Amino acid sequence: MLPRIQYLQFPKKIVFGAGAAAKICEEATKLKPRHALLVTDSVIAGTGGFQAIKRSLADSGLSLTVYDRVEAEPRLTMAEEAAEHAREVKPDVVVGVGGGSVLDIAKIMSLAPTNPKRIRDYLGINLVENPPLPKILAPTTSGTGSEVTNVAVVSLVEEQLKTSVVSPYNFADVAVVDPLLTVTMPPRTTAATGLDALSHAVEAYMSVESNPITDSLALKAISLIRKHLPEAYSNPNSLQAREGMSLAAMTAGISFGNAGVCAGHAAAYAFAVKFKVPHGVSCALSLPYVMKLNSPAMEEKAFEIAEALDIGAEGASRRLLWERSIAAIAELMRRLDQPLTLKTLGVPEDLVPRLAEDMLKSQRQLARNPVKVTLDDAEQLFRSMFRGELGVSASDS
Ligand SMILES: [Fe+2]
Repeated sequence: MLPRIQYLQFPKKIVFGAGAAAKICEEATKLKPRHALLVTDSVIAGTGGFQAIKRSLADSGLSLTVYDRVEAEPRLTMAEEAAEHAREVKPDVVVGVGGGSVLDIAKIMSLAPTNPKRIRDYLGINLVENPPLPKILAPTTSGTGSEVTNVAVVSLVEEQLKTSVVSPYNFADVAVVDPLLTVTMPPRTTAATGLDALSHAVEAYMSVESNPITDSLALKAISLIRKHLPEAYSNPNSLQAREGMSLAAMTAGISFGNAGVCAGHAAAYAFAVKFKVPHGVSCALSLPYVMKLNSPAMEEKAFEIAEALDIGAEGASRRLLWERSIAAIAELMRRLDQPLTLKTLGVPEDLVPRLAEDMLKSQRQLARNPVKVTLDDAEQLFRSMFRGELGVSASDS
């Protein structure tokens, strides 16, 4: 029996599979628009996959505006500019094609024309007042799961933090997940975004808001990432690996879109903006240390995650299985050439107290963590992350 009342939310429709991008135009015209706003970034705008989508929309007789100025890890000022642009263009449908940053800005551009305030006023939970324009979201990375979540993340440069617009109005009308759109992703991005998906799955699994449904999706994602991420990294043209990773990112997205992420993302937010560390890299680095911090609360769930990671679970204690799971994730990071310490990233150790304070500002994520995190705990966490003290031989320094 489920432990309490459960809510599960995701997009109205998901179209998944190799070649699914060819369905974007068909799905868009079902929404009966006259004017489509196609959102992307300058790199994706030059790809064959994007050009084909653009051509099909233009050939369908829609008037089409392309906005290709989305920047990586978008700042609030960039989000405000994009919102203003959408209000001027007045589209009837928004189509986002790109990584998580693009899809998050597409969400903001779909809500802006019907919600007149500054985007700053919508930062937080359920503050968007009116239904947005319909939107179709198609990821070109396998990581954020933004195509299936209700979150749009922006960076606050002055505060050196990340925050988000969280609203049911952020769900896509149609999420189109086509692994073929991900084959041009360079190995470094494949690794970072894939590990972001892993952190979504593991943090959703640890979240106090998890339930048997989000757990089963998280475990499926963990198993797929273990199996397919190293291959997608070393052999970018492997369609099987790309398909596995697209499925993993999407299932992890639905899982954390409902169970939430916890202390891993809270820790990552504290140093990612300050040191310009890509989101996936910062989350991946935090993950094994936060798993270690959460060990006392996770023994009950250790067996299943060990199975998903394909660790020999026979006869081992639950405590040992959790430790082996941490070691397996650290090993996966090593295979993907990811940093395992803050020192490697050039973060000075004397900043640890400040990072700990900033981590505690992410109260929404920390409230979902299975272990309460005090300022002392956070300091200790960052000190371990600096020194590579994982207790499972994770140091790379
Ligand atoms: Fe993330």
